[in-house]
Amino acid sequence: MALITKKPRGTEDVLPRDSYRWQFLEKLFRDEARAFGYREMRTPVFEHTNLFERGVGDTTDIVQKEMYTFLTKGGDSITLRPEGTAGAARAFLEHGLHNDPLPIKAYYLTSCYRYEKPQAGRLREFHQFGMECYGTQDPAADAELITAAANIFDRLGLKNISLEINSIGCPTCRAEYHKALTAYFAQYKDELCKDCQERFSRNPMRLLDCKVPHDHEIAQGAPTVLDYLCDECSAHFEGVKHYLDANGVAYTVNPTIVRGLDYYTKTVFEFLSGDIGAQSAVCAGGRYDGLIEELGGNPMPALGFAAGIERLLLTLEAQGVEIPLPASCDIYIASMGEDAHQKASALCNSLRKAGLYAEFDVVGRGLKAQMKYANKIGARFSIVLGDNEIEEGKAKLKNMLTGEQSDVPLEAEAFINAFTQIKLNDEFKGLEEKNN
Ligand code: HAM
Repeated sequence: MALITKKPRGTEDVLPRDSYRWQFLEKLFRDEARAFGYREMRTPVFEHTNLFERGVGDTTDIVQKEMYTFLTKGGDSITLRPEGTAGAARAFLEHGLHNDPLPIKAYYLTSCYRYEKPQAGRLREFHQFGMECYGTQDPAADAELITAAANIFDRLGLKNISLEINSIGCPTCRAEYHKALTAYFAQYKDELCKDCQERFSRNPMRLLDCKVPHDHEIAQGAPTVLDYLCDECSAHFEGVKHYLDANGVAYTVNPTIVRGLDYYTKTVFEFLSGDIGAQSAVCAGGRYDGLIEELGGNPMPALGFAAGIERLLLTLEAQGVEIPLPASCDIYIASMGEDAHQKASALCNSLRKAGLYAEFDVVGRGLKAQMKYANKIGARFSIVLGDNEIEEGKAKLKNMLTGEQSDVPLEAEAFINAFTQIKLNDEFKGLEEKNN
């Protein structure tokens, strides 16, 4: 039988030696979310298919081409979430969150699934950090949300990230814009690709982000949405820009951003990385004032964004941003002989209970190989236990960096105290050196 050693196309494994990079990002996201008053929300990895058809929109590429949809044994149509917003909105409605004090601020860290053609930065299973805010129409909220994303990129020390913003208006001004777009594209209807011919009558805005080169070229000459904004949408967009200016967040207005999902209204934005090639959007989002109502709720303004974790990691790597290595082993207890092994095992357990990262030999290495391993895993301290140490009830605690050694009794509590003291002194010395 052939070995099953290949992951499905467009998926990635995160290995133990690399997971600290993810954890670093995840912690930073959580800290940033907390600073902005966002609390975590978890929703199922699969939802009823019609949630995405209604929410994301049945004229979008996501719904038409990219969803992982299947029938359950009970005959229900289920879809793996292609994004996080629709599921979060469904949960908002299902649990009546509108009864809680508004705005409701929720964040998530989730996997998403899209059947796309894999390439650098484009996966079939990928991960998003998203922030969603419900219950405010105020442009200050749009700017606050965009600022949260900008702060994350600042805190990561990322450069070469640009923010592009646009407003695609409300249904009222959009109706006028649709008319103008339809008139424009009608001149080229026969030249458009098959998909666009269909999009033409259903949602002419979708023609603006067609990736077929000739269609893209035609789209370049299309009327821009900003010329069609109603007074309210115009004033809202001005407000967003003023608050961004006040927050010191740099942006450019790009009237061609329309986003590939149907739920957006008014503000839309994308953060682009200049270092990761064609799939450059590391974060994108906008306002979606109509989604909750579309899903059956009362009108409820909302807005949000999602950042692609894999693309952020690619950007960090491309820019050489160093992610702090995880804490290495505090202490390695090397041992020789059965009694010493047992003592090492018991001592390790006590140290671990006290919150230390302790290791001893569980693979049957000789002493020399144990010490080599202790070096490899970066142990800060080590002790060697043999018959003598067991007999005398003490051992030498060695600082692996400086080579300094001190006698420590082999009782868990004394050992922990001595170890903690040495570790503190060590850190204090390190601090002193840093300050001098
Ligand atoms: P989106 O633009 O489809 O928006 O995706 C957001 C981000 O997810 C992208 O900017 C990108 O970083 C990442 N991403 C998307 N597709 C892939 C892929 N195939 N492989 C790797 N990364 C990918 C949304 O999903 C909206 N739900 C965002 C939002 C939240 N709007 C309002 N609230």
